[in-house]
Amino acid sequence: MITGKPLYTVEQIQQRVKEMAGQISKDYEGEELLSVGILRGSFMFFSDIVKLIRVPMNIDFLIASSYVKTHSTGKIKLHADIREDIKGRHVLLIEDIVDTGLTLAYIREMLLARKPASLKICTFLDKKSRREVDVPLDYVGFEIPNKYVVGYGLDCENKFRNLPYIVVFKKSS
Ligand code: IMP
Ligand code: MG
Repeated sequence: MITGKPLYTVEQIQQRVKEMAGQISKDYEGEELLSVGILRGSFMFFSDIVKLIRVPMNIDFLIASSYVKTHSTGKIKLHADIREDIKGRHVLLIEDIVDTGLTLAYIREMLLARKPASLKICTFLDKKSRREVDVPLDYVGFEIPNKYVVGYGLDCENKFRNLPYIVVFKKSS
């Protein structure tokens, strides 16, 4: 069940994405970037933010999952890897939400082993109070309370990803 008003409206999201893209463009000035989206959740955020980042860029994606319904299984499954060779390149990982941190910690270790010139993490949402492992987050859109949210790419059982805003989801039982 979707509850009440959006936690973040389309306008609030667009404003924040613009600010984040501005910061990233400044930080990577003079460099070339490889933006890696973590699917499926990040697809909407990814496409919004890359449009506003003003540095030369390549893009790639990987597919990972750890959630069943509204709970993290703690076990990360890599369904598809990136295709680019990242050795010596500046990589920016783009994620929808960081919760326990297990997914990103796993992906980060895997990519760092391939020796990129740098690896930074950009996440739209941060559920910091739920963190189980430490992951350094370089760009965070919004820090949110411990609530399950959907929309703007985020799902519950692969539904609601197409909502253009973020809203709290409650189990109807
Ligand atoms: P972590 O490994 O616990 O940090 O989980 C990260 C992944 O779980 C995210 O990439 C999301 O796909 C999913 N996730 C965590 N919290 C939520 C939520 O509130 N709504 C939808 N998906 C979530
Ligand atoms: Mg995700």
